[in-house]
Parts: sequence; structure tokens; C-alpha cells
Amino acid sequence: MSSKSKTSQTGINTRLAHTGHDPRSFHGFVNPPVVHASTVLFPDSATMVSRDQKYTYGTYGTPTTDALTSAINELEGSEGTVALPSGLAAVTVPFLGTLSAGDHLLVVDSVYAPTRNFCHGMLARFGVETSYYDPAIGADIESLIRPNTKLVHTEAPGSNTFEMQDIPAIAEVAHAHGALVSMDNTWATPLFFKPLDHGVDISIHAATKYPAGHSDVLIGTVSANKQAWPALWKAFAMLGVCAAPDDSYMTLRGLRTMGVRLDRHQQSTLAIARALENMPGVARVLHPALESFPGHALWKRDFSGSSGIFSIVLDVADTARHQAKAHAFLDALEIFGLGYSWGGYESLAVHANLSDRTVALPPKEGPVIRLQIGLEDVEDLMADIERGLDAAKAA
Ligand SMILES: Cc1ncc(COP(=O)(O)O)c(C=O)c1O
Repeated sequence: MSSKSKTSQTGINTRLAHTGHDPRSFHGFVNPPVVHASTVLFPDSATMVSRDQKYTYGTYGTPTTDALTSAINELEGSEGTVALPSGLAAVTVPFLGTLSAGDHLLVVDSVYAPTRNFCHGMLARFGVETSYYDPAIGADIESLIRPNTKLVHTEAPGSNTFEMQDIPAIAEVAHAHGALVSMDNTWATPLFFKPLDHGVDISIHAATKYPAGHSDVLIGTVSANKQAWPALWKAFAMLGVCAAPDDSYMTLRGLRTMGVRLDRHQQSTLAIARALENMPGVARVLHPALESFPGHALWKRDFSGSSGIFSIVLDVADTARHQAKAHAFLDALEIFGLGYSWGGYESLAVHANLSDRTVALPPKEGPVIRLQIGLEDVEDLMADIERGLDAAKAA
């Protein structure tokens, strides 16, 4: 019995503990081997020509990357999963695999900024046109679909201002017009939202964040349904963008504890977000699990949990003072680090740059500070945030 069939009916933490690697496949060792590989030998020239063996070359997969991708496959419920060297590569490779010159791409305006850079900086050069849509558009996305629209890219919630999207409604319309749907699902992970169950064809994960979980690994995964898998696999194999063996191993190792870490991230983040709703100096808290958040109903309908980043909008009426107040907040922090990324064990803060927005415009009340809530004690983090708010008030 494979580890998949043993655990597919069990609770999520049981699955995370056992999925991906069957110890009996490698001498009983609980963890998979870290296979560093370029060359794979063939037993004879006939097999070399037919390539009729499980592994043929390092770029196409090894027992280590297979252990990770089969674990993600089981969590996503996908036909196939590939592991790539970063979350950004996990966005760009499916775009390259599904779009051709003359095609049109629809991308949500609250998208991760480097995704937008890729669209105008590279896809445009190859003759693919991108338009940006309002995250709240839902089924009205029909009005933006053209005969040559081949892909609708979603990301929910957005990773700075946390706009939710009606994914099933968008997927239904896109499919009716022959377009595929991709989703950057990094915030929720497949534990809190399973994109393929909601009509998405290609689920993208910056596994750098919660699966790896320790701010030391860059890695991405892309999982596709039956329809999108051949194009995804082809692009992956042609581009040679395979994840490294040590990173794949570390990410599978991270998955084992992802459920318990996410529980902790979720609880601490909600406690802090709720406390900040009534805090002087905070105009608004942007967190989909808060009843006050505009996208809350969608989150409640489709998601089964929330993770560890959200934003606060500082209450700063004078636009000219936004940057100075944001910097005063950040510079007063003693526990939160100032840094990009998220999903690690340590708390981080950043002044969100929303200058690229064309449709989903930034909040007007003040600067947006994104907080990644790590595994530290909530009281210490709250005291740190209060230090930041005091400094912003004084600035
Ligand atoms: C929503 C989202 N998608 C993708 C990425 C890219 O991940 P990576 O840093 O692994 O390239 C990030 C990184 O911050 C992100 O926030």
C-alpha cells in the first residue's frame, strides 16, 4: 500500500506527516534520499533510445523532487505537480506554457508585483497582451474577455491589500470562453483553499513561504488538472527550471510541520488583527477573516482558514506625511524584522508599495503596512506594534 492510499482519507496533519515518501521504497528510512543528479545511467543502448525507465536526466525529476511533488499533488488534488527554483518561476513557467504570440492574458490588478513585471517586461516582447482587472469583478469578467483571451490569472487574497476574488464565478466564465484559469494560492496554501476544487486549472504556490517555512529556501510548485498538465509539463521540461535537491528535501521536511505552524500563524494573526481594529492610529485592518473586511463573505464561503500576513492602514490624513509616518513605524520595531517575503517563523513588516495599481487603487486613509506574524509570543508582537504606532504618532 502506498503512503498516499494509506493517508488519503485521514486528517490533514496525518497526511502532512506521511505523504510524499513511502519509507519502504528506500530501505525503511523515514525521509527520502537527497539525490544530487544530472546523469542517470541506462542499462543498455536500446533503453537509452526508448528512455523506457523511470528517471532519465536530473532536470526531469529525481526521487527527491518526486517525493515533494507527489506530496503537493495529493494536497492539491492535481493531475501533476512540478517543483521550480522560486515562487516567481512558478508564476512565469505556466504563463510561458499556456500563452503564445497574439494571445491575451487577464491578470488581477492586486497581483504580486513581479508577476506584473513579467507580463509587461517579457510577455509583451513575445506578443502577449495583458490587461488588468478589478479583483471584485466576479462573473463580470466576461466583459473583458476577448476571442484571443487564453488565460485568466487570479490571486486571492492579494498579498498586500488582501482583496478576495470570486474564483468559481471567474472560472465558470473563463471556461465558457475557452480560457484557462491560474491562481497564485500562496496565502491560503492547499490547507485552507484548494483551487482545483473551485474551477482553477493551474494552482501556483510560492512554497518559499509556508511549506519551506524557515526563510532559508526559495522554491515554487505548480499543480495542474488533467487539461492543463501536458502544457505545464512541456514548459517545465523545455525551460530546465528544476528545483534543487536540497531545497526540495527541505521543503518536504517543512511540509511535515506546516499544519501546526499554520494553526499558530492563524491564531496569532487573528488575535493581533482584531486587537488592531480598535487601536488609535490604525484607520483600517485588511484581513479577509475579519467581519469588517469587504471580501469577508467570499473568504467565509470558500476558504477554511487564514494564514499569517495582513495589513494595517495607518491613520495619516496628510498624504505628504505617509512615507515619513510609515518609516517612523518601521524604524521603531524591535522584534519585527524589516524584510520582504513571509511564511517564515519570524515576524516581518514592510511599507507596501502599491504604486503599480491601475484598477484596485490603494487605500486613501494612510500608508499600508504589511505584517507577517511569525511564531513569537503574541504579547511581545503587540508591544512591538504599539511601539511602532507611538513612533508614527510622534513623527
Ligand atoms: C503572492 C506571492 N507569489 C509569489 C511570490 C514569489 O515567491 P518567491 O519569493 O519564492 O519567488 C511571492 C513572494 O513574495 C508572493 O508574495
